[in-house]
Amino acid sequence: MIKKISSLEIKTGMFVAQLDRPWMETPFMFHKFQVRSAQQVAQLKAHCRFVYIDTEKGEDTAGPRPAPAAAPAPVPRMAARDRKPARAGKADPVPLQEELHAAREIHGQAKKVVDNILEDVRLGKSIDTATAKKSVENIVDSVIRNRDALVCLSQLKNRDEYTAFHSMNVCILSVAFGRTLLLPREDLHLLGIGGLLHDIGKMKIPLDILNKPDKLTEAEFAEMRNHVRYGEEILSRISDIPDPVVQMVAQHHERYNGKGYLKGLQGEQVSLFGQISTIVDVYDAITSDRVYRAGLLPNVALKKMFEWSASDFNRGLFEHFVKSIGIYPVGSLVEINGSDIGIVVAANRENAIKPTVKLIKNRSGQLYRPTPVVDSAVLEPRTGRDRYRISKILDPLQEGITISAFFKEPG
Ligand SMILES: [Fe+2]
Repeated sequence: MIKKISSLEIKTGMFVAQLDRPWMETPFMFHKFQVRSAQQVAQLKAHCRFVYIDTEKGEDTAGPRPAPAAAPAPVPRMAARDRKPARAGKADPVPLQEELHAAREIHGQAKKVVDNILEDVRLGKSIDTATAKKSVENIVDSVIRNRDALVCLSQLKNRDEYTAFHSMNVCILSVAFGRTLLLPREDLHLLGIGGLLHDIGKMKIPLDILNKPDKLTEAEFAEMRNHVRYGEEILSRISDIPDPVVQMVAQHHERYNGKGYLKGLQGEQVSLFGQISTIVDVYDAITSDRVYRAGLLPNVALKKMFEWSASDFNRGLFEHFVKSIGIYPVGSLVEINGSDIGIVVAANRENAIKPTVKLIKNRSGQLYRPTPVVDSAVLEPRTGRDRYRISKILDPLQEGITISAFFKEPG
């Protein structure tokens, strides 16, 4: 039975079916969830006046009820783990600007590691998994310190080195997404390894197919799809690659409706890591420039993916992804107050429409030097209005702005 109660009555064990305010304006990771900690109780009291609880799935106000027979996926697969989530709090322990210095170093090292791995696979040599693990460990550390720094650097793409940069980006975005899902640190590590290696099988695809600028023929596309099989084969020959990583690589082109490849798995037949990789892989792929087409703007990509999510992805998980990267994802070019221009550098997980923005041009068209970073959630104390209101999303191409240039160097 669905029951409306005051948030003051909330206690652990209850199952929240609905909040009294839009979910995107709250810090909660799921629309519906079982209250499992004192922290969640405190957050519910702080953010809501009342909530709706499902007394069939959790405790009632009157007393304890039997535990639910089954909770909806993917919640149970994460919540049932008796392991400590990687630092989950609201604020990141290290500010973005500070972490960016370390993140640049980590990103540069990881790129070299990826280049070596791809080259080794191309030459049929064994992969240096120890170096890859160390590199991913550094990425996980950075994402735990600050969720946005490495995500900013995922804007550093290069059309001619697509597979290397895409592998890096799927690694970074998977770890950042996993952190938003409150997955334990060891899972973030596995997600990172899986992301880094997910397209490793492409190194076995003939270069004339892999780099073909025109549309692939049916036979060429069939061979291209085999990169999933090749990747799985390469990894299964390495003894210290954990099964969830092999699964992630094997499932990153599956679709929730069963129309993906290679196996045509459906729904929850795809592992959680596999589902995360499908979302992240598509997001980075369609926002990247390719030889045969320009990448989509981040917000346009999200809009398209939202349409596809009814069939291609686990809709609930996709909504968490949106919450993880925001309505204006990192790398979006925005107009502020109808005149200034800025680039989104960090999502606001409390309020998805109020990201942090690096201002790059003032109202008279002059470049800011250095570039101030502003929080669009800040209000003018006198009027209570937004001090930095996002008035429009802009196309960097039309504005003559190269987004990646602003992430390459400090400033
Ligand atoms: Fe792939």
